[in-house]
Order: sequence, then structure tokens, then C-alpha cells
Amino acid sequence: MHEFNFKDNELYCERIKVADIAKKVPTPFYLYSYKTLADHYKKLKVAFNSMRPLICFSVKSNSSLAVLKALVKNGAGLDIVSGGELYRAKLVGANPKKIVYAGVGKRPDEIADAIKFGILFFNVESEEELDQIQHIAESMKKKANVAIRINPDVIPKTHAYITTGKGETKFGLDFETVHKIFNNKWKYPNLNLNGVHIHIGSQILDAKPFENAIKKVLKFLKDCRIEVEYLNIGGGLGIMYSIEHAQTAKAFAERVLPMLAKSGLKIILEPGRFISGNSGVLVTKVIYNKRTPRKKFLIVDSGMSDLIRPSLYEAYHKIVPVKVASSASDTCEKTDVVGPICESGDFLGKERLLPHVESGELLAVMGAGAYGFTMSSNYNSRPRASEVMVVGDKFYVVRKHETYRDLVKGESIPKELR
Ligand SMILES: Cc1ncc(COP(=O)(O)O)c(C=O)c1O
Repeated sequence: MHEFNFKDNELYCERIKVADIAKKVPTPFYLYSYKTLADHYKKLKVAFNSMRPLICFSVKSNSSLAVLKALVKNGAGLDIVSGGELYRAKLVGANPKKIVYAGVGKRPDEIADAIKFGILFFNVESEEELDQIQHIAESMKKKANVAIRINPDVIPKTHAYITTGKGETKFGLDFETVHKIFNNKWKYPNLNLNGVHIHIGSQILDAKPFENAIKKVLKFLKDCRIEVEYLNIGGGLGIMYSIEHAQTAKAFAERVLPMLAKSGLKIILEPGRFISGNSGVLVTKVIYNKRTPRKKFLIVDSGMSDLIRPSLYEAYHKIVPVKVASSASDTCEKTDVVGPICESGDFLGKERLLPHVESGELLAVMGAGAYGFTMSSNYNSRPRASEVMVVGDKFYVVRKHETYRDLVKGESIPKELR
């Protein structure tokens, strides 16, 4: 469920017409619904309530300060993967004791900053990283909390590029190495090795791969007599982009809770897409209609630089006209919705049954709240889109559209060439 709905053939975000926002904000823009963000967070919270887990929103899925603040205000922690994300976490007043930090390539300065801030723990992904954190914590005369990310080698049944829990990926450590690390705890006097972490992939529609991974990890802890305080089961919960049957928070919790409750461990979840995915849309304007002997195209003012998921993963996003003419369904035609970028891979949707949409009219690309703006770029020297948040019947531009001046910020030309 989300707060983007049609009333009288017009798309609304909460209580505002999307077309009215577009009268004030130039396209393209990302549009987020505060209520949807808060509702999705609460759904997970309620479903897992019996274990009172820490729910750390995965900042990489949507790092808008407004989105982060919305969730932090509702009690969420944050899952970060860089110094930049830590900086954002500080700006929104996140509680350090609700921050977990993953990622295979944490730099020494990033590690030092996170220790200084007093985060809950690092999710450590290699032995060298563990040595590095020990070294930095020792030099700072601090004790750092650490969870070891285990790669449980399970098949999450999702796109290869968002699979992270299979043995051949770069993420986490194999069981044998993790066992060795816990046996050699004495090597790390400045670290509290107090947790284990898994994150097996993203857009996973079924609980089975999670069950398999959790089962494997709990058996491993038991067999090796490893005692920890926390089990972080990662993110990865899938959402509905089109016709897929994504599990609800309640159904997911019912499947994994019995195992988790039996473990007696404190539980952490790191959902990104589940919270932000359907909380946002990309609003774009049709620039041209184009017909070739083989195809009908709608050329719009956003493309792979704004939303790369279709090009990168062949991801499907539903595309709808923001205003639907009442006769529209009679005249639908297969249409490719493409951007202005000079790549054949620059499309938002292919062969979509769409009514005729005049140039100047608006389309909404649905389910664009996760891995949308955060993966956008300036390719083809295109300024990045603005971000807008609706709260009830008000909207706020929470990030301005970039300007041409922003595009060249920090650039210079060697004096010999001037
Ligand atoms: C370590 C970690 N945790 C959580 C997430 C969030 O995943 P999702 O948005 O699928 O919930 C990711 C995404 O890549 C991740 O790498």
C-alpha cells in the first residue's frame, strides 16, 4: 500500500494532485510521500514487535535528509556504508547507538570518524578490515563494537547484480574464516566481537532464502559455541513493482520469528527498499512523440541519469500518465518510454501499453523511491533532478534541481590551456 492514488483520473500524492506540484516544480523531480515512509517502517516494527528489534533503514536506498529525518523521528536507526552516509546520519540527529556500518571497503578515516561518533557496530567484511579497525581503535584508546558479516552461501532468487549472499560474491566471510576469527578474539583487544551479520541480496520476494540463511548461521553459532549478543539479518525484502507477489512484513515475520526468538539474540533488520521503494515516484514530462516504422516512442525529460534501474537490471517500473483522459483505455498502444541520453540502454520502460500522451504532459514512474535518486548521475552533463516531499496536504522541495553551475562546481582548466 502507498499514498499515490488516482482520484477522478488524476494522480495524487497523499492529498495533493501531482500535476499541481509540477506547476510549481520543474520536471523531472522525485516525489516522496512522508506517510508511506512512516507506514512501511511501522509495518515492520509491528510485525516484529515481540522481539523489539532495532530497525536500521538502509541509507543507500534513499539518502535524502528529509527521508532520513522522517524515519529517525519515527524511531528508526540507520544502516550506513560510507563516511558520506555517516555525515548525513549526523545531520539528521541519528542516535549513534542505532547506527550500523557495513561495506567491504571502509577507509581508515571513515572508520575513525565512526568510532569517534560511537556507532553501535561495524559489520566487518574481511580479516584485513578487522585488523584495521583494531589498529585505529587502539590508537584512539577506544573499544569498537564489531559484528562479523557472514556470507552464508545461499541462493536468494533475485537478479545477479543484487545477490550478495552467494559464496562467489565479494561480501562477508565464509564460516571457516569466521570461526577462526572468533577463536582468535585475543588478537583484537580493542574490539568487542558482539554480533554476526548477514545480508543475502535485495528484492527477495519469499522468506525461504532468509530462513535458509538464518538457519545456517544459528547452527554455525551453536556448533562452534560462539557467543554473541546481536544477529543482524540484513535487508532485502522485496516489494511489488508490477505483478510480483511480495511477502508482507507480517508474513515474513511469521516465518522467521520462531527461529529468531529461540536464538535469544538481539535482532537487527536493515531494510531499504521495503520502506522507501513505493514511497517515491519520478515525475517526468513528455518532450516528443516519435514514431518509426517499427516503434512508437515517448521521449521524456528524464532517463538513465535520473533512474538507472531499468538500464542496469532491466528493472520494471510501472509508468502512468499523471492525468488520464476518460477515453484513454480505448486507444492504448505499445510504447517505449525513453530518455534523452545518447545510449540505446536509456529507457524507463519498453513496450508499455499506454494511451496517447501529448508532449508537455506528465508521466509518473512508480516505485522509484529506492535506488532512484541515490544512483543518479550527471551523465550527458544533465543536472540531477529535484526531490520533493509531501506531508499531508503540503509539499516541500527537499532538494533543489541542480543548475549548470552545480555541474562544473570544483572544475578548473590548467593555466597553459587558458
Ligand atoms: C548490507 C546491506 N544491508 C541492507 C541493504 C538494503 O537492502 P534492501 O534495500 O534490499 O532492503 C543493502 C543493500 O544493498 C546492503 O548492502
